[in-house]
Amino acid sequence: MIAEHYVADVLRESNTLNVLQSRAHGLDHWFRVWKNGQWLTTQSEIKDVDMEVVALFALFHDSMRVNEGNDPEHGTRGWLLWKYLYDGSGHTLTDIQDRQLATACEDHSNGLTHSDPTIAICWDADRLDIHRHGIWPDSHLMSTGAGQILALRRTYPGAT
Ligand SMILES: [Fe+2]
Ligand SMILES: [Fe+2]
Repeated sequence: MIAEHYVADVLRESNTLNVLQSRAHGLDHWFRVWKNGQWLTTQSEIKDVDMEVVALFALFHDSMRVNEGNDPEHGTRGWLLWKYLYDGSGHTLTDIQDRQLATACEDHSNGLTHSDPTIAICWDADRLDIHRHGIWPDSHLMSTGAGQILALRRTYPGAT
């Protein structure tokens, strides 16, 4: 996957990891977002999800936080880190993928839902990890039916 080419670069450049030294918004969270995205795409209602974009979102969306709380521009900074690191060697992002990743990163913390399946999976995968803060996601802010059901049941992907 394309994201694999950038893991080492993000580990080196991430403000969230290297300056903030965050656990709440760091590697553990990024990994769970990726796993949540994979789980959500196994749900039959959801089609045409671009997992390359979901993986890149998981890696970059919270990579450039400057604090653990109100940081409204952190998604845009994560997107800018992607633009800074992207070299296209051995792979290219299509214009559609580029726009999906931009929207997914820039708007992921703005309390929106989205009808694009790939962006919907990115945002729901992120919100489904909010229980790490001791709260459950608002079902009205989930973009997918599977995400809404999990939020209403107050459970998370893979829970038995
Ligand atoms: Fe975020
Ligand atoms: Fe996040």
